[in-house]
Amino acid sequence: MPGFELVGQEELAEISDIFSNANGVQFRLGFDQLRNGIFKVAQFENEFSKKMNCKHGLAVTSGTAALKVALKALGVGPGDEVITQAFTFVATIEAIVECGATPVIAQIDDNLDIDVKSLESLITQKTKAIIPVHMLGVPCDIKSIVAIGKKHGIKVIEDTAWGCGALLEGQALGTFGDMGCFSFDYAKALTTGEGGMIITNNSDIDFRARSYHDHGHENNPELKRWEDSRHGSGFNYRMTEMQGAFGLAQLRKLDRIIAGQRNIKSEVDSILGSEFSGKIRLRKTPKNSQESADALVFQVESPALALSCRNALLKEGISTKILPEALTWHFAGHWNHIPALLNRHGNLENEFKTSRQYLSCSVSLPISLNTKSDFAPKVVKSLKSVLI
Ligand SMILES: Cc1ncc(COP(=O)(O)O)c(C=O)c1O
Repeated sequence: MPGFELVGQEELAEISDIFSNANGVQFRLGFDQLRNGIFKVAQFENEFSKKMNCKHGLAVTSGTAALKVALKALGVGPGDEVITQAFTFVATIEAIVECGATPVIAQIDDNLDIDVKSLESLITQKTKAIIPVHMLGVPCDIKSIVAIGKKHGIKVIEDTAWGCGALLEGQALGTFGDMGCFSFDYAKALTTGEGGMIITNNSDIDFRARSYHDHGHENNPELKRWEDSRHGSGFNYRMTEMQGAFGLAQLRKLDRIIAGQRNIKSEVDSILGSEFSGKIRLRKTPKNSQESADALVFQVESPALALSCRNALLKEGISTKILPEALTWHFAGHWNHIPALLNRHGNLENEFKTSRQYLSCSVSLPISLNTKSDFAPKVVKSLKSVLI
């Protein structure tokens, strides 16, 4: 989670540049006579997509907006179904519901990623898109999911909110499916305060997403903005220049952030693995992958034991991250407030039993660059009080 931990002079310098050299212009487009060629959002999009080795990047106001704009770019609407997974942040479902489509929820497997068999069993004639989530930055089986999407002619949008800087076989998460959606909210590895990005190699999809996020504007270079062409209605999800400037500085720190987190996590992983062998199961990282590593997840044998672990950790001043304390926001079994989910799945309490079991036995520890050297000893001490 260190994006916000590393905020400093570099972000300030990028923002100051807008005031010193671009007359403080905040709109991402136009105002050419005032801004001296400074376009921070466009530059952020270019540098981010280049870093991900992807053709297009579109910056938006949040990760939730990125998902909605991505779905809109694919033409998802009423009557369509979109499959995602039981373990995600509620935002993934909200984006689907906002488009008027029906969210369909697949189970997760014991490694807390989307269960590919469950996902395939839910495909119908109405399925328009699949949104697998690289939850907590561990790559899911994205290659199998993309193959399933291709087989059935269904688009894949990767929810890469947690996966910024993570790789599978050297390739950035977010570039396997048709689109990748990132969150730059304040708790993410790269932050712009609030913000998000959609990346894609498909120029037609990028064009549709770009115009949807800007009221339908096609930004036709032949026309003035007020006479601009359009093919459909849109909304306003434009990022401001200050957010773009912030993101540029953060992007330059991304490698350092991910490398630092991975080092700390692998150190704590191996200590816990040897101290609690047979008592805990550490979440696995797929072969040939590099996770974003801002959380360390382990599983114990019962939900009661997971809660005891959390309480013991809290006593040592260590809070957990999402699991188990924030399950109600991250598990579909709790989302009775979303009618579209109830209509599709009925009783949510009984619907995702295996997912519920895996999640309620899980404990997640935050990893940050500020992790102190006494972190692992404190974790070991507190867990010993309940596990041994
Ligand atoms: C899996 C997932 N998807 C989407 C989002 C939404 O991102 P944002 O907070 O930028 O709207 C989040 C936010 O935490 C998330 O965890």
